[in-house]
Amino acid sequence: MRGIILSGGSATRLRPCTKITSKQLLPVYNKPMIYYPLNTLIKAGIKEILIIVAPERAGDYLNLLGSGKEFGVKFTYEIQDKPRGLAEAFIIGENFIDKENVALVLGDNIFEDDLSEEIKSFNAGGKIFLKEVPDPERFGVAEINDAGQVVSIEEKPTQPKSNLAITGLYVFDSRVVSVAKNVKPSERGELEITEVQKWYLNNSELSYGKIMGEWIDAGTFDSLLRAQIFAKEKMQAKMVI
Ligand code: TTP
Repeated sequence: MRGIILSGGSATRLRPCTKITSKQLLPVYNKPMIYYPLNTLIKAGIKEILIIVAPERAGDYLNLLGSGKEFGVKFTYEIQDKPRGLAEAFIIGENFIDKENVALVLGDNIFEDDLSEEIKSFNAGGKIFLKEVPDPERFGVAEINDAGQVVSIEEKPTQPKSNLAITGLYVFDSRVVSVAKNVKPSERGELEITEVQKWYLNNSELSYGKIMGEWIDAGTFDSLLRAQIFAKEKMQAKMVI
């Protein structure tokens, strides 16, 4: 299994702080934000990790994270020159992924759960991780039937069919590269990762895990504040880096 951390984007909701640095390098209590998703991958035993960053910030990431030796893993870096959407990570990562399975995590997502078994036990197809939230319309939303299967996926629906948000951790087999290449840009001009998930769903190859602990997408000032307090109170003992 290879790992990708997608850590570009424009972070407009955190201006002016993000005028001079990347969102995922901002502190979340005593560590840069990216340490938390990195911790999720490293705990799952993933040793080869691609970090995708925006061009203006590439030097900062290299200075902070280096080769990966310090963490017992190997980092590779790629640039995403414009934020064209989450699914572009698989196109940028084509050579890195090669014929392996891949776990993609967003650089601003913090998971309390230890997801190592869920990630290690993945064989083929696609897997998403769902969390019950009060405001599903802000996220990709999955609908589950009585038999526990995913039956629909919608990106930021105005009328969500469930309260199950699709969190920023996704595991796919290597077919994801060609699937992503066939995704057409959405109305907002992005290659949507929900389109990739739908391809696996239409092939009956999409499974899911449930997030039981806290999940924070630290992309707004309020969620960042929540992440800071949560990291101090709950995450310290769960960090291996
Ligand atoms: P978002 O939070 O949706 O977007 P953003 O970070 O640009 O922020 P804002 O909406 O405030 O302008 O992105 C989710 C995560 O994915 C975040 O870690 C940034 C990353 N990302 C990329 O690296 N490349 C992309 O093309 C997109 C859309 C997001």
